[in-house]
Amino acid sequence: MIENIANTYKRFPLTLVKGEECYLWDSDGNKYLDMVAGIAVCSLGHCHPKITKVIKEQAEKLIHVSNLYWNQPQIELAEILTKNSFADKVFFCNSGAEAVEAAIKLARKYGHETKGENCHEIIALEGSFHGRTMGALSATGQQVYRKGFEPLLPGFIHVPINDINSLKLAVNNNTVAIMLEPIQGEGGVRPLSSEYLLEIRKIADEKGIVLIFDEVQVGLGRTGTLFAYEQTPVVPDILCLSKALGNGLPIGAMLATDNIMKHFTPGSHASTFGGNPLCCAVSKAALEIINNPEFLFEIQKKGHLITAKLQEMAKNFDMIKEIRGKGLIVGVEFNAPQPKLTDYFIKNGILTIVSHEKILRLLPPLIIKNDEINYFLTVFNNYLKFECQH
Ligand SMILES: Cc1ncc(COP(=O)(O)O)c(C=O)c1O
Repeated sequence: MIENIANTYKRFPLTLVKGEECYLWDSDGNKYLDMVAGIAVCSLGHCHPKITKVIKEQAEKLIHVSNLYWNQPQIELAEILTKNSFADKVFFCNSGAEAVEAAIKLARKYGHETKGENCHEIIALEGSFHGRTMGALSATGQQVYRKGFEPLLPGFIHVPINDINSLKLAVNNNTVAIMLEPIQGEGGVRPLSSEYLLEIRKIADEKGIVLIFDEVQVGLGRTGTLFAYEQTPVVPDILCLSKALGNGLPIGAMLATDNIMKHFTPGSHASTFGGNPLCCAVSKAALEIINNPEFLFEIQKKGHLITAKLQEMAKNFDMIKEIRGKGLIVGVEFNAPQPKLTDYFIKNGILTIVSHEKILRLLPPLIIKNDEINYFLTVFNNYLKFECQH
């Protein structure tokens, strides 16, 4: 433990000093295949030459100006995001939690101005993760993160996932929004069913409720389409993005239709750094690579490869309960906690993360190659064999 850094993370005893493509090196010179990608951030891998080039070029031109003025990279990035989505307008910020905060504020402003001040309740889902700031934490449906920080923001109701009757019971005249991750990421790679989403969209339309998708983790190519909602039968009204948006530079975005975003007027919301030229130029470069049908199709193929092979393994090893996911977000749920799993992978030169002690969450860079996937699978198979024998 480093004495002068707040103890907010349980860290692995590794100091990482260098990265290239899907690999990281520690200060002792050990090389690791990165199956975490900075938790779904470095989708183009580490130090992608195009990203590095844009960082250098933009840093020599203009790094920051206030949002009191326009800047060209922000204008161009907003154009890419709106042209390729349902949204008409973008609010830029710096992180996932900030994108969620912006969505909460926008939904409430919309509710107040269209239906009155009592219309402020937001229905979110159990098991969800929306971030650590007080608003985002209030939306997060996991007691483990909320405990110790109460009182949280009033007006949030949590209902079990994929249970439409519970959601219907929670809806009332004060409901302004329903917020969800189309696939719960941190909660353990749990997809929402198409039928459930269709019903939610129907209720939202009937009652004039805003549907907010938090795609901070699963957006921007991770599932094999630019946005995860494209593989669902519904379209949201507000979309939260971050993580892969800057491929490592801090940027977040909250997208919405005009009808809703028009309730943000000068002074409603702001961010000093949000949408600065450096992050936006990099984000634009990252999106130009990701938003390519061939690149996205490769993600789908690699997702099928890894999921199919994991399903095969699950047949041979009873300790695996279920394989879930889409594209290159894959969860392997075990029947029992696996305290030795991440260390086993580290000893074999692979970085992984485990959620809730028994869900291996795979989030490799989207540029991962088949031989790298196969190396991961071989090591994982060895771990399963070893655990079965001991
Ligand atoms: C779905 C989702 N929303 C929001 C967040 C919060 O993002 P950040 O850590 O950038 O604030 C996360 C982070 O993991 C996330 O997975």
